[in-house]
Amino acid sequence: MARPRRTAASPRARSHRVLVLHGPNLQLLGSREPDVYGHTTLEEINLAMREQARAVGLELDIHQSNHEGALADWIGRARARNAGIVVNAGALTHTSLVLRDAIAAVGLPTIEVHLSNTSARESFRRRSYVAEVCVGRIEGFGPRSYLLALEAMAGLLDNAPRHES
Ligand code: DQA
Repeated sequence: MARPRRTAASPRARSHRVLVLHGPNLQLLGSREPDVYGHTTLEEINLAMREQARAVGLELDIHQSNHEGALADWIGRARARNAGIVVNAGALTHTSLVLRDAIAAVGLPTIEVHLSNTSARESFRRRSYVAEVCVGRIEGFGPRSYLLALEAMAGLLDNAPRHES
């Protein structure tokens, strides 16, 4: 049976903190290939995510980097602070064993996100190295992909123990 939705007016006693990672070139959203990625900026997406997080009872640590190592560093530290990870690895999705292994190493539930429907684009985008270590993938819904991922993450974490930090 569906659980009642938490709202900002009825926050849970203690929120889960979720790590949200944006990979290379996503800082350019808003002006980057708007026919593919739309006109919404990364800042606007982050604001919408923070609002959605409040509604579903999550707190967020949000980072963007163009560097694989920086993304791997945040993933590597996540176990101390975060209960789950939402990641749009950008083009690193299709190339990065480093990120795949980092996600596998920390063992936190991870959801892969893309604004565009990568399966309906160039063939090189059909291969995702992170997919095999993620719980699932949400893609093709523009900025809404991130919001759907947060809702899915809240459902995943509903019964998980909370971090003390
Ligand atoms: C993307 C899809 C990737 O193939 C691409 O390299 C990106 C953005 C998306 O959100 O649709 O940088 O991850």
